[in-house]
Amino acid sequence: MKGEILKLLKETDGYVSGQELCRRFGVSRTAVWKVINQLKEEGYEIEAVRNRGYALKGAGDVLSEAELLSCLKTEWAGGRTVYFDATDSTNIQARRLAEAHAPHGTLVVSDRQDGGKGRRGRSWASPSGVGIWMSLILRPEIAPSSASMLTLAAALSVREGIQEETGLSPLIKWPNDLVLNGKKICGILTEMSTELMEIQYVITGIGINVNQREFPSEIRDTATSLSLEAGRCFRRSSLIAAILKAFEKDYAAFLKTGDLSLLLEEYNACLVNRGKEVCILDPSGEYRAVAEGIDESGSLLVTLPDGTRREIISGEVSVRGIYGYV
Ligand code: BTN
Repeated sequence: MKGEILKLLKETDGYVSGQELCRRFGVSRTAVWKVINQLKEEGYEIEAVRNRGYALKGAGDVLSEAELLSCLKTEWAGGRTVYFDATDSTNIQARRLAEAHAPHGTLVVSDRQDGGKGRRGRSWASPSGVGIWMSLILRPEIAPSSASMLTLAAALSVREGIQEETGLSPLIKWPNDLVLNGKKICGILTEMSTELMEIQYVITGIGINVNQREFPSEIRDTATSLSLEAGRCFRRSSLIAAILKAFEKDYAAFLKTGDLSLLLEEYNACLVNRGKEVCILDPSGEYRAVAEGIDESGSLLVTLPDGTRREIISGEVSVRGIYGYV
């Protein structure tokens, strides 16, 4: 009921009477009053005026289950939303839920992660109050070998959501980092569970640096936040809603063909290293090549100095700019 009351307050220009709230939700005046007080404690500025009712006057960057439910405008993504003030890792929580048969589209969000996981066994700094740390459970009927393409689709959706909400235009560092002015603002970690060559579930974990003003010394040179780049703060709940909306569209485009052919053009237009020389960190040896763009399977096509073309498969190797991260 809290999420629904919040939604109604957000949608109403002016006051909603206490009587109307009691009637709509079939509860007593005291129950409504309790919810209003909880919302105030969470950080919403709600004005109560005798004979008129309640009006939402403002809200900080509140993150809670009710806030998320009041923002989401999706068909299935976030249909079930599980929120934590703190957890080990939203990917781990999502895995627990998926094992317990949580449906496709279940969203896990945490304000803080104490064991945030990055790719290649790295940790992911996830302090409270400043970032988006979320994981989406997907149950696509595709071959396990196609699942990595979902991560590239998710990168596009995050970019689109950020652009819509903030006006900033991050670029993509293949396969799925988002960068602004050469520094990382988002990383995506996709994990999956398979049985007899069938996908049981995929977990797409997304970490976005939103309102950080500073970073730990180890990542200070390579990480930035939306707020540092734009010079203002953003509401995490609205960003999440915009990203999930974009993801539903990109996911549908991916399922239509079973690959990235419908997303390829947009992805390549946002590729930070396109047409530039990059360093390919192949386990069998490092070499330089020019990044041309991805193909429909999400592999990066590169041209070597002798003119030969090579297809780099994500997950096997990584790519760096020749002067550093980008
Ligand atoms: C990377 O190394 O670039 C991937 C980082 C992914 C971080 C996100 S935060 C939400 C989700 N939960 C985790 O533990 N990791 C992912």
